[in-house]
Amino acid sequence: MIKIAPSILSADFANLERDIRRVASADYLHVDVMDGMFVPNISIGIPVVQSIRRVTDMALDVHLMIVEPVRYVEAFCDAGADLVTVHVESDTPEKIQSAIDRIHARGKRAGVVLKPKTPAEAALPYLEQVELILVMTVEPGFGGQKFMSDQMPKVAALRQLIDERNPACELEVDGGVAPDTCRACIDAGANVLVAGSAVYKAEDIPARILELRG
Ligand code: DX5
Ligand code: ZN
Repeated sequence: MIKIAPSILSADFANLERDIRRVASADYLHVDVMDGMFVPNISIGIPVVQSIRRVTDMALDVHLMIVEPVRYVEAFCDAGADLVTVHVESDTPEKIQSAIDRIHARGKRAGVVLKPKTPAEAALPYLEQVELILVMTVEPGFGGQKFMSDQMPKVAALRQLIDERNPACELEVDGGVAPDTCRACIDAGANVLVAGSAVYKAEDIPARILELRG
């Protein structure tokens, strides 16, 4: 069963509760946190996650695009995140490990994220510990970019490694996922698809969510 994680980066932040309710048939709510340092854009942070937590029971998938995520993972867990993902490129392996340990110590699910130029092998040190691996299919920072189909071999390689070493681990893709690209992600082995513009620009959002499930 393919899970859909609408990204609220494409929602209307002045009508966030309304736009969260519009995607209630999806599985996770994907929350993009950007600090203007790790990526050249600034989005939302801890107080907004707290407010979202009060208006939905959906599982919150918090994607941290920030430097030194170890400094903030506990705050995001306490704000109501169910799953917190950190980029392997955002700090040293020791600090990434510490971030994962801190998320787990809060009783939450942890994941690692790979940018397009980062090879699958970069996830190996964490593969047996995390609940999710996220493969970016655009350069992180902005919604509405073109899907990078050249990331599919990486997704397929990670699917094989996950099946061998940690079959409960989820495999998520993020960026440019739309009706014409979701099939490639599913065929490569992803089981969670993030979609921002494809969901929020749709005329009929529940129908679009169903369509993206493949
Ligand atoms: C990009 C974000 C994505 C983004 C996806 O840095 O991580 O989650 O919102 O948006 P679409 O689906 O429009 O590419
Ligand atoms: Zn994201």
